[in-house]
Amino acid sequence: MAGCIFITLMLAGVHIAHMNPVFSPEDELHFKTWMSEHGKTYKELPEYYHRLHIFTQNRRRILQHNAGRHSFTMALNQFSDLTFAEFKKAFLLHEPQNCSATTGTYRYQAGPYPDSVDWRARGNYVTPVKTQGHCGSCWTFSTTGCLESVTAIATGKLLELSEQQLIDCAKDFNNHGCFGGLPSQAFEYIKYRGGLMTEDDYPYKGHDSTCEFQQELAAAFVKDVVNITRYDEMGMVDAVARLNPVSFAYEVTADFVHYKDGIYSSTKCKNTTETVNHAVLAVGYGEQNGTLYWIVKNSWGTSWGKDGYFLIERGQNMCGLAACSSYPLPLL
Ligand SMILES: *[C@@H]1O[C@H](CO)[C@@H](O)[C@H](O)[C@H]1NC(C)=O
Ligand SMILES: *[C@@H]1O[C@H](CO)[C@@H](O)[C@H](O)[C@H]1NC(C)=O
Ligand SMILES: *[C@@H]1O[C@H](CO)[C@@H](O)[C@H](O)[C@H]1NC(C)=O
Ligand SMILES: *[C@@H]1O[C@H](CO)[C@@H](O)[C@H](O)[C@H]1NC(C)=O
Repeated sequence: MAGCIFITLMLAGVHIAHMNPVFSPEDELHFKTWMSEHGKTYKELPEYYHRLHIFTQNRRRILQHNAGRHSFTMALNQFSDLTFAEFKKAFLLHEPQNCSATTGTYRYQAGPYPDSVDWRARGNYVTPVKTQGHCGSCWTFSTTGCLESVTAIATGKLLELSEQQLIDCAKDFNNHGCFGGLPSQAFEYIKYRGGLMTEDDYPYKGHDSTCEFQQELAAAFVKDVVNITRYDEMGMVDAVARLNPVSFAYEVTADFVHYKDGIYSSTKCKNTTETVNHAVLAVGYGEQNGTLYWIVKNSWGTSWGKDGYFLIERGQNMCGLAACSSYPLPLL
């Protein structure tokens, strides 16, 4: 019902557009250019105007942000015709996740650590950025990304592993397919249920389906799960510097959706276990002009952000990124 009312108002807006412009011809031109760049079409005229309206608001926010002084820039991308509420529903974990159940006491040496680390440059240890599509399956990409790297570091062989197996089969471990889950719980599943198949043997569908795990085709295994002590970001630094990339969860808020470059930092996101809604993979870290950052692999395709990656401020538990981080020990 609410949708019907909204569309009616939008049509009224179109009729009086010359008196009270919601968007200018220039805005519409930007929209059409963006539509053709992203291969977007809208079947109904009301839908077209509805999306034009949202796009124009997003575009204005991006221009406004980039005109100010910020540590990161924003840009249009494939999500620019969505409101944040729609984005959340389609792409993020449905809160709350059991992030507070990821407990552990991580033991580590006191350093010193290198100023910068990048597992992409250390060898063939990180697979290309993948695309989750319309499914809250980020946690499966964080999980495969980490196990792919951990296994490659141990064996010298980089395999792409199956997200779909985790979507379909890991529900007994508090995971919910396209409706969310956590890497630590997915590592537990892989440990106790006999391994993870490859991407080729169990390809990605991007929707919930029945479990088709074949144990004899399992290609990567977990001996144990290491949870980093809650809110101990130095534990994450230790693990990434000495051992391997690390999975973590954090809270995505509206401005993050259009991140393009620079070091992401926010005063809007919260920093506790309660609000995490996205899971990703820290593949390294560094420092720029005195600001510490993480280098993070996302699962929104390569045209998003910095070729599919982003930098986020390090050392502040930014957006709760140290709330529930973990990695697996490979079983060889
Ligand atoms: C790590 O976290 C998972 C769930 O997120 C939990 O099941 C497991 O017991 C934790 N491991 C340790 C060693 O505490
Ligand atoms: C959190 O854990 C509890 C207890 O294990 C479980 O009943 C609940 O379904 C979990 N919630 C989510 C969102 O996974
Ligand atoms: C979260 O942020 C608040 C406000 O900046 C800070 O006081 C608190 O220590 C932070 N908590 C954690 C767990 O990082
Ligand atoms: C960071 O330092 C570089 C030179 O080292 C400079 O070009 C750049 O403008 C600085 N960035 C910020 C955000 O201050």
